[in-house]
Amino acid sequence: MTAIIGILDSGLGGLTVARKLDTLLPGVDIIYLGDTARFPYGSRSTGMIADRVEQGVGFLKDRGAELIVLACVTGSAAWLGHGGREPKVPVVDAVTSLVDRVRTLPRCRKIGVIGTPAAVQTGALGRLITQQDPETRVYEYAAPLLVPLIEEGRLDRPEARLIVKKYLHPLKVRQIDTLVMGCNHYVMVKQLMHRKIGKRTMLVDCVSTVADSVCGYVDAHMPHAASPGAGGSRVYHLTDLTDGVGSIGKKMFGRNLTFRRCRL
Ligand code: DGL
Repeated sequence: MTAIIGILDSGLGGLTVARKLDTLLPGVDIIYLGDTARFPYGSRSTGMIADRVEQGVGFLKDRGAELIVLACVTGSAAWLGHGGREPKVPVVDAVTSLVDRVRTLPRCRKIGVIGTPAAVQTGALGRLITQQDPETRVYEYAAPLLVPLIEEGRLDRPEARLIVKKYLHPLKVRQIDTLVMGCNHYVMVKQLMHRKIGKRTMLVDCVSTVADSVCGYVDAHMPHAASPGAGGSRVYHLTDLTDGVGSIGKKMFGRNLTFRRCRL
């Protein structure tokens, strides 16, 4: 019997998480759902995002997912803010994973968070981090241009460096000790961010934190997922198939994928 894990994202950014889990859990069946028809979540209302997340969770559950991974920070923040309605299936969400990771870090007193406008507007990351340690100061900023920039793939251009520098400037001025990268796309510019914010600042990315949370859950609760070797199936669903999905998907995942169109 194989274990089935569903990964939900607003689009293709969650493939960064899927790529990690593809390697870490070769024997598990993975169903990916990217809501490309409503992408980007970052410029939408939290109510609309939470509704789509609910529908996405239902889609994955109907296909047998025993664990749902909300790979999208924006989707997770909106879903948690709307009560995270009981999905009757375990969920690992990107916001809780990031907050749990921050809790384990030493020297974490001044934390910068960057994310999409919708994620920052919920204030979820800042609120949950300060709830667990009221002494911590959190500064949250929206970085609306980063997701399109990363998807366009012009990261070696001077304008990319300028945009990253501009978004990180207010956090650099505050001399943060930790930068929480609150969007799964940002792992693609992690090195650039580290250069711009300074090497003394610790970076926390949601891709490795979510992957670690998933593996922790699998070890503890899904013994049937531990079958060694490859063999797990992979299916990639998108709610809209546009011309660009192939090349963006390749950027995020590292190789060509076959996408199936689906409806929510
Ligand atoms: N990749 C998504 C996240 O992790 C944001 C992209 C979007 O705006 O949909 O928050």
